[in-house]
Amino acid sequence: MTAAASIIEGRGLAKSYGAITALSSLDLTVGRGERVALVGPSGSGKTTLLYILAGLIPLDHGQLVLRSKPVADLRPGKELSEIVGLVQQQLDLVPQLPVIQNVLAGRLGQWGLLRSLASMFSAHERGEVVEALSRLGIADKIDERTSQLSGGEQQRVAIARLMLQAPRIILADEPVSSLDPARAEEILRLLTEVAADSDRTIIASLHAPELIRKYFSRVIGLREGKFQFDIPVQELTTQRLDALYDLDRRHQS
Ligand SMILES: Nc1ncnc2c1ncn2[C@@H]1O[C@H](COP(=O)(O)OP(=O)(O)O)[C@@H](O)[C@H]1O
Ligand SMILES: [Mg+2]
Repeated sequence: MTAAASIIEGRGLAKSYGAITALSSLDLTVGRGERVALVGPSGSGKTTLLYILAGLIPLDHGQLVLRSKPVADLRPGKELSEIVGLVQQQLDLVPQLPVIQNVLAGRLGQWGLLRSLASMFSAHERGEVVEALSRLGIADKIDERTSQLSGGEQQRVAIARLMLQAPRIILADEPVSSLDPARAEEILRLLTEVAADSDRTIIASLHAPELIRKYFSRVIGLREGKFQFDIPVQELTTQRLDALYDLDRRHQS
């Protein structure tokens, strides 16, 4: 990969929480259009790494450059949200609001908090939401209260929100861990399709080897805040995964 094609350049990324080292000096280069699966046992640092890449928590040490700009120089709101978007594990939807408002929240950066609170949206914006929801097969839910939707449907609302945000880098934290196998596969297919649309980059944490092999091109194994491997998906063996998960002897306090 040439330097010009990389969209994420991380050097010595480090983050601690008090005495706990969550990430220990990681180097990470990711190219445009790459599909990276992040694997590792609970507590290995997956969420912390995704939050760092999303610009949501600051680094203790190291440098992170997204699309040729240091992340610290990207203004929160519009500038950051055009580059990177995160689907959090807890989806982060507002349950009491109708679906349309949760989806349009993807535009918050571009859109302004005031308008979103006043829920002023144009016919054009509604049309965009309809289009995104149609693609995900839930256009009929647009005016429903989000809490009325099933878990899998709410997952789609979070993806629709990401589609309206349209960031260059899509991050997803265990997007399928709460879903049954059929829905998990469907969500990953949709997420990777959205990413493939405009050669977007996707990095997602997940545990299912068969889904990783099917939807990702590269796998990074994380344990105790360090990379154990960073390989093309073809090289992902059961032994490698077993070693990554079984050898976790972290002492939780
Ligand atoms: N806000 C926090 N405060 C203190 N410790 C944290 C916090 N977030 C994460 N940690 C710790 O950092 C380590 C990595 O956590 P995390 O990134 O959530 O891992 P994963 O997503 O792989 O489960 C764990 O030891 C976890 O307990
Ligand atoms: Mg996590």
